[in-house]
Amino acid sequence: MTLTIEQLLNAMWQDYLALTPDAKPIHQLFADLNQGIVVNDHIALRTFNLEKVSLDKITKPFIEAGYQPVDDYQFPAKKLFARYFQHPDGTLPKVFISELKVEELPQHFQEIIYELVSQVPEKTVNQQGFCYSGRPWDITKEQYKKLASESEYASWVAAHGFRPNHFTVSINHLNSHPDIHSVNQLLLDNGYVMNTSGGLVKGSPDVLLEQSSTLAKEVEVNFSDGVMKLPGCYYEFALRYSMPDGQLYQGFVAASADKIFESTDATLGTK
Ligand code: NI
Repeated sequence: MTLTIEQLLNAMWQDYLALTPDAKPIHQLFADLNQGIVVNDHIALRTFNLEKVSLDKITKPFIEAGYQPVDDYQFPAKKLFARYFQHPDGTLPKVFISELKVEELPQHFQEIIYELVSQVPEKTVNQQGFCYSGRPWDITKEQYKKLASESEYASWVAAHGFRPNHFTVSINHLNSHPDIHSVNQLLLDNGYVMNTSGGLVKGSPDVLLEQSSTLAKEVEVNFSDGVMKLPGCYYEFALRYSMPDGQLYQGFVAASADKIFESTDATLGTK
């Protein structure tokens, strides 16, 4: 059975809710203030750049649904490459996919990732729903902790597998809140913990994009040798500004995304 793009996006949303305890009440909070309508600006996905599970593989169902690549970004410090995709139907969210450049990690960490990915059956990757299928490998707590000591991003993918990392409320489509500061204030007033790495607001009108995000809450994750509580996913908020031609800027800002990635970093949490 082939899902329509709307069904695929909805299945991703349902999967995301399971890893993001804050998402449903936050979505409801904005829905109640905006006649039930909350528009999603973009969905983000993460992977490793190894052939079998690379960004190109994750992209496949979106390309088949008519999405097109728009722009690429490099995150040298985090050893990440990212590309975003847009659909000709502007009501569909953008899709932002990043991949870890595994060959840039020290050999020992590469070997852990190779071992995990070697467990993935080829046919699993080719299924339309692979991008929200979860973790296709067994992993021990020790492997997880080792990866986390080198790359927070690597450890997130290793623990959770292939699932949406975040959805994003489009502030441009909120009647209730015209700016990102009032959005953040509403969230703080309701007790949500925000990512303050690089400041509460990333970006500025000058770069045509302002973003903020919650800090991922911990969820229980099963390992082959027991259970650990780890950061799941987070919710992002984005306000886009108009370009000189009057169109809203649709791209991303590498310096801001670099800090948004840290929303799954347990060391930033208030424990
Ligand atoms: Ni994002």
